[in-house]
Amino acid sequence: METVKSINYNAQLSTRALAEQPRPRLGGRRRTSTGLAPLYSFGGGFPDPESFPFEGMLQATADMLPKEGKDALTYGDVYGYLGLRELVCQKTRHYEGYEISPDNVMITNGSSHALALACELLVDPGDPVIVEAPTFSGTLGNFRRYGPQLIGVSLDNEGIRTDELEEKLKDLQKQGRPTKLIYTIVNFQNPAGMTQSLRRRTALLDLAEKYDTMIVEDDAYGELRYDGEPIRALHGLDQSGRVIHTGTLSKILGAGVRLGWAIAPKELLPKLAVLKTDGGTSPYTSRVATYYMREHLVEHVEVLKAIYHQKRDLMLERLRVNLGDTAQVSRPDGGFFLWIKLPEGTDPFKLVELASERRVGFVPGPSFFPSADEGYEYIRLAFSFAALDEIRQGTDLLCEAIKAAR
Ligand SMILES: Cc1ncc(COP(=O)(O)O)c(C=O)c1O
Repeated sequence: METVKSINYNAQLSTRALAEQPRPRLGGRRRTSTGLAPLYSFGGGFPDPESFPFEGMLQATADMLPKEGKDALTYGDVYGYLGLRELVCQKTRHYEGYEISPDNVMITNGSSHALALACELLVDPGDPVIVEAPTFSGTLGNFRRYGPQLIGVSLDNEGIRTDELEEKLKDLQKQGRPTKLIYTIVNFQNPAGMTQSLRRRTALLDLAEKYDTMIVEDDAYGELRYDGEPIRALHGLDQSGRVIHTGTLSKILGAGVRLGWAIAPKELLPKLAVLKTDGGTSPYTSRVATYYMREHLVEHVEVLKAIYHQKRDLMLERLRVNLGDTAQVSRPDGGFFLWIKLPEGTDPFKLVELASERRVGFVPGPSFFPSADEGYEYIRLAFSFAALDEIRQGTDLLCEAIKAAR
């Protein structure tokens, strides 16, 4: 439609809409600053497109439609398709070793949606919300729309620093401003890579209890573990009903199915449901994904682990060969990302230009911090999307750009 008159839309927009700048509407390969799509895409947390189980999804659709057609093609339950909620229970039993009930689960449009709902449920404008610094940029954007005061707590190799967290909680309590939620990514933290240790998990739960706040636990990558032993989720350790846990099929099936979930105490779930008037999250896709995953979950995750493990190791190797110990590179036990502290003296702006000329995409560090003036000495690389050859060539080119960006 042609616009006849020019309108200053900013004057029409809500404060929520103004809180975030519009992002380019591009697919998997966002443009670099030269205007060209990167050939080496280490930016977003996109799953490996070669890993998608096309045959399996076709078969699942063929099996599902005759059995469920009418229910699949109409509005669904606000809590989501029961079969998928049962699958979440099956997955929790298999990977976490504890039982939950479908009554604890709400299906959402990816876990981003569950995270936004949790924030909407708990946070009023101006409320203090604690996030890890750095943390997942998508959630920062999601949360900002609800107008909280985002307060960062730093990380060390055991995850969120609970000593610093307690100081902040205490300080806010003194000001008469209770913290509404603590957002944490427990496994292979995005972007920093570490996994929260058991003693930190316990300390975090104790602090939430002591300062009467809720925890939102984001576990988008938990099944994709390449080294070490799993540690029980905060949700599985929690005795007091303070944890809303979010998960997703994006990384273990395909981000295009847009299916995630919140696991929450039974008393809280109806309150979350009040905020979700959408005719049920995709009754059709939920059924296809469930028919596939309930038969193939474990075997498919094993295939994915082998793919991503190899990619992680290749990118780590190219970084080590090219940069030696001039840069600090994370070594996550799982997930999709490496977090790099650039060599002393690297100009982050020049690096963006030089990498862009070489058509290498990555995400600069400041995107992951609650305050925009932090994180320039870091970049995040995703090893998940690019093919092995692209990882090899693209990482070498990126390292060349890093060395030249002084
Ligand atoms: C840590 C983390 N949480 C949540 C998400 C959201 O994923 P989705 O909305 O596709 O479930 C992502 C995606 O990259 C992520 O990295």
